Formats: sequence, structure tokens, C-alpha cells
Amino acid sequence: MTASLNNDRFLRALRREPVDTTPVWLMRQAGRYLPEYRATRERAGSFMALAQNPELACEVTLQPLQRFELDAAILFSDILTIPDAMGLGLSFAQGEGPQFARPVRSAAAVDRLGVPDMDGELRYVMDAVRVIRRELDGRVPLIGFSGSPWTLACYMVEGRGSRDFAAPKSLCWNEPAVAHRLLDTLARSVAAYLSAQAAAGAQALMVFDTWGGLLAPASFREFSLRYMQQVVEALKSDTHARELPVILFSKGAGQHLSALADTGCAALGVDWTIDLDDARRAVDGKVALQGNLDPAVMRAAPEVIRREARAVMDSFGNHPGHIFNLGHGITPEVDPENVKVLVDEVHAYGRKLRAG
Ligand code: CP3
Repeated sequence: MTASLNNDRFLRALRREPVDTTPVWLMRQAGRYLPEYRATRERAGSFMALAQNPELACEVTLQPLQRFELDAAILFSDILTIPDAMGLGLSFAQGEGPQFARPVRSAAAVDRLGVPDMDGELRYVMDAVRVIRRELDGRVPLIGFSGSPWTLACYMVEGRGSRDFAAPKSLCWNEPAVAHRLLDTLARSVAAYLSAQAAAGAQALMVFDTWGGLLAPASFREFSLRYMQQVVEALKSDTHARELPVILFSKGAGQHLSALADTGCAALGVDWTIDLDDARRAVDGKVALQGNLDPAVMRAAPEVIRREARAVMDSFGNHPGHIFNLGHGITPEVDPENVKVLVDEVHAYGRKLRAG
């Protein structure tokens, strides 16, 4: 399938092969900073109605590609589709973030959870992947994604967003066996979910471990890393996913890059709290790296954005295996013009870097 792609820079960089210039895409590239996204969400009625409508999900997936020369598309969906399909009752209250009507509060609640049916409750996600692949028509590769088992557990146990996720962390200390049962069910669900996205046409798979960095090092290994490892191993022996590159992104886990690289993934997402030359040394050529401009830079003046983008690229240097991205998602108040400034600078400077 790679051969029929018009632009395979992103997949080549994931394999650490030479590329004409640095590929770039942005986490949350489809979203509230785009007026056309807000208009489509308005038409859909709500964020979940938008995500559950494959045609509209396709429309918003393609919106940023119409404005900017991005090198990858990412499925428009959310990480909380899995717990929603498990029956927890997801809603997004305006301005308050995600909430579950039935959070996981007991061992009995954990035991009631099963792996959702990918052709049932989650079929809308696979339908969206199929529609997007058709409409992309080989322009750029499509990234499928999931939350990590730990990050999904954070929302499921807390019942909502949080700064410190005290409830899931307490569960790990007070009832570790229950936490492990929950994480194992989630790891099997995440692997099945990513496998189904691969079967539907996703060309790379990304795992968002947004809250891995909340854990102390030993807890990170026990409750986050171990279950991402389980997911990567399941995908490696899966008919649909075995050939696809997997990107792991643990936010705030810069000290764990070497261990993350040993899971067998193709690439690691890196946040802005570590320099890319240090990150590259830590992973010792085992994986590609994706990142890591501080998202706050996107609110600065164009010349600052260009300068900071070049600094990120200089830090990585002229080596194979860099995919430019932000260190976390783009925020709603960013001027879309600044995204154009960034994307164009990455491509122009990437060519210069390679010319020496
Ligand atoms: O990157 C993309 O463009 C693809 C789509 C995508 C969304 N969410 C769309 C979305 C992806 C990859 C996600 C992942 C996601 N969702 C994560 C992990 C990545 C990260 O940012 O750390 C997490 C933690 C979530 C859970 C979630 N969903 C939160 C915290 C929120 C924000 C709530 C708010 O009101 O700010 C969402 C909603 C959400 N997911 C929006 C979008 C575009 C905004 C909803 C809206 O339109 O109002």
C-alpha cells in the first residue's frame, strides 16, 4: 500500500529511511482552533455526534490537510470511545471536559468490564477509517490511535479529567490486583481496537499515554509501560497490524525513553521537556522520534515560531528518523496562520539541513 502513496515521507521517517525533508503533522490538528471545525461540530450537534458520524468525522479529518502541507492525517475520534463502548456513559459538558456517568469505583465494576465489540459499539470508528482512506485517495498516510491502558484507566476510575488523577493512583496502591485486572482488560481492548483500525485501513498506529508521567518511576513501569508492552506484542502477532509502525507517546516520561524504545515500537512521541539530542542518545538508534515543539510557541510571533522550529530540528540534527510535531496537542486559541508558518518552515529548513 505504501507504494501507491503520493507522499510517504512520514512512513519512511518512521522506518528511519532517508527523506527529502522532515515530515510534519500536529497532535489535535483537527479541532477547535479551526473555524471550519467549529462549524462542522455545530452542524453535528456535539463532539460525540461528530465523532460517531463517519462522513462528518472524515470531513474534519481532512480540513487541516486542505489548509496546510501536512504529511499525515489522523483519524478524527477520541481516546474515550473505548470506555464509552464499555458502558460508562461518556459526555462532554461545555467547557468542562469529559465525564462518565458510571465511573469504575469497585472491584465488581472492574469484573463487569469486557472487551467491546469492534463490529458493534465501535463500528463507527472503523467506518470512519474506511471513509477517510477512500477520500484521502493516497495523498498522505492515515494514523489510527488509542489511549494507553493506564490513561484510559485514569479517566474511567476518576470519572472525569483531573490534574493529578488521585483516584486511579489510590487504586494502584490500595488494590493493586484490581488495578491490574482493569489494565489487562484495557490492554486487550486497546490491541483489538488498533487491530480493527489496521484492518479498516489505518497505516500507522499511535498510543496516547497522556498521564504516564504522573507515575513515580517504578509505578510507571508496573502500571503504564507493562501494558503498552502487552499492546505492542499483541499487535506484532496480529494479521492486520503486524506490518504497521506503532508510535508510543508517554507525556512527561522523558526518563523512560530507553525502556519505551525496548517495547518493539517503531517510534516514540517526545514532549518539550527534553531536548531531542538527549532523547536521540537515550534511544540509541532503536526508534524514530516524533516531536517536540512546546505548544505554547504556537501563540508567539511568526519569526519566533520559525526560530523555535529550527531549534528543534537542529537539536535532532541531520539523522534519519525525525517526525516533526508539537510536544502535545495544539490549543484552541492558536491562529491557523501560525500553523501554516510552522509547517512551511519545517519543510524548507528540513531541505536545507539535508543539503548540509
Ligand atoms: O489529533 C487529532 O486531531 C485527532 C483527534 C483526537 C481528539 N482527541 C479529538 C478531540 C485525538 C487524537 C484525541 C486524543 C485524546 N482525547 C487524548 C490524548 C491526547 C492528548 O491530548 O493528551 C485525551 C486525553 C483525550 C480526552 C479528551 N477528549 C479531552 C481531555 C478532551 C478535551 C475536552 C475539552 O473540552 O477541552 C477531549 C475532547 C476532544 N477530543 C476535542 C477534540 C477535537 C475537543 C472537543 C470539542 O470539539 O469541543
